[in-house]
Amino acid sequence: TCVTGKRTFRIGVLGSGKGSDFVAIADACVAGSVPAQVAVVLSDVPEAGILSRARERNIPAHFLPPGKFRTKLEEEAERNYIEALRAAKVDLVVLAGFMRVLKDAFLGTFAGRIVNIHPSLLPSFPGLAAWEQALAHGVRVTGCTVHFVDAGVDSGPIIGQQTVPVLDDDTAETLHQRIQAAEHALYPKCVAAIARGEVAIRGRRVVWRAF
Ligand code: GAR
Repeated sequence: TCVTGKRTFRIGVLGSGKGSDFVAIADACVAGSVPAQVAVVLSDVPEAGILSRARERNIPAHFLPPGKFRTKLEEEAERNYIEALRAAKVDLVVLAGFMRVLKDAFLGTFAGRIVNIHPSLLPSFPGLAAWEQALAHGVRVTGCTVHFVDAGVDSGPIIGQQTVPVLDDDTAETLHQRIQAAEHALYPKCVAAIARGEVAIRGRRVVWRAF
């Protein structure tokens, strides 16, 4: 709680990688452009950059073992993730490069309160290395998408999208970098709108309304 009596909106971030999307959101929280606080960071990769980036910012950060599967969490592991997020009293779960799909127990516990960022204009190029899929397909425009998470892969209601051009001499690396720069602008904007209560799910669509 703070002096106005309004509780700070609390975010839990899950990531498997270097953590640049987490940094964009955490720094926007500190700068005040996102009215929220990152309460905890969880990773399935012990040496993931996201854990160091969090600890540098004095944000609690934990490696939680994922269990024996490659693309999802084992049941007991999923329960541990849920417990850690509950203990941190999070209002929103933000997936920032978390490379595992979440199952029923998790989705049910945080129904309508899980968001993800994907490095393409969904529904094009779901799944892995979306920027490579875009290059291989030869599209001239790609981008990134922030969406609510449902039981499918990269399939939930779309909150926001930002376009990025594909240039003639792009490599996978240069295109991914350009998409990530767009992600760092788009993700904090979408999280800010959710924290302000300006975003609502209407079936497959998400509506934005300012108060
Ligand atoms: C981001 O580009 C994000 O879009 C992607 O992982 C990267 C994480 O980078 N996510 C997915 O591909 C999800 N299917 P980061 O660790 O620097 O934030």
